Amino acid sequence: MPVIRATAPGKIILLGEHAVVYGQPAIAAPVTQVQAQAMIIAEPRLPVGRVRVQAPDIGLESWLPDLPGNHPLAVVIDQVLNKIGIDHLPALTVRVTSTIPVASGLGSGAAVSIAVIRALSDFLGRHLNDEEVSALAYEVEKVHHGTPSGIDNTVIAFGRPIFFQRKPNVNRIEPFKVAKPFLIIIGDSGFESPTAHTVGDVRVAWQSDPERYEHLFAQVGALVHSARQAIEAGAMEMLGPWMDQNHALLVEIGVSSPELDRLVASAHQAGALGAKLSGGGRGGNMIALVTAETAEPVCQALCQAGAKNTILTTIQ
Ligand code: PMV
Repeated sequence: MPVIRATAPGKIILLGEHAVVYGQPAIAAPVTQVQAQAMIIAEPRLPVGRVRVQAPDIGLESWLPDLPGNHPLAVVIDQVLNKIGIDHLPALTVRVTSTIPVASGLGSGAAVSIAVIRALSDFLGRHLNDEEVSALAYEVEKVHHGTPSGIDNTVIAFGRPIFFQRKPNVNRIEPFKVAKPFLIIIGDSGFESPTAHTVGDVRVAWQSDPERYEHLFAQVGALVHSARQAIEAGAMEMLGPWMDQNHALLVEIGVSSPELDRLVASAHQAGALGAKLSGGGRGGNMIALVTAETAEPVCQALCQAGAKNTILTTIQ
């Protein structure tokens, strides 16, 4: 029985979240310690066109036509069929599993979409390149997040650190070189916070005071440009203070929370070079820049300050 598998990593935003929705650049990187996996299993004993969808992590087991039309897995399967230009599938099972926590800023939705797109298109004999995979995943992101910038699907599809800027016609997408690998600890606040909510709240705030928000976003954009130069030059010591400044701007933008602020402060006290929330905010994850020497004390400090989980990852 042929089985095709594909995986996709989680991601963090190093700098630039929220401002990126308004056309400022941002930098993101894949996190391979957490993964979404899709399996496509041929089911020759089922009638042609019978498609079963399984996501055991969330207790989902359904025939495809029984899923709501806007269910993320229904939308993603539909996108692949449209792209490949076929209107019905052979009998098969789509099984999705993931170790990426949901609604926590690690890109779980985009990673699941990308794993399914890769596995299903390969199963159907049509390999899609990173741009094509990213574009299909973006269509799914739009259904669920309203106005996503596209950074999540881009960094996860490319699987490399990315400088990303949303543009009216063609987005600026630049995978770039990390001159010296560096260590990031991801701390999970333990609070789920759907990105669509914080993005929606920021939009309302921006509409009520565009001048103030545009100014905050522009300051974030300037930090992102500087950070990219530092990463490309291997000048990591400069990155920490810019992450701190980015966090301060995110506090002003209104997307931090007491828990995230506490984790950021405790990372500093334990010797992190810089720390900030990462992703949509109000919950989800924060990140801290550490050295080999400070990694362990920062991990411990985060757990003592209430982090539900920590992940040490190398950005390279
Ligand atoms: O999916 P998250 O929680 O990592 O958030 C994505 C980053 C935002 O800038 C807040 C939204 C977006 O679409 O870029």
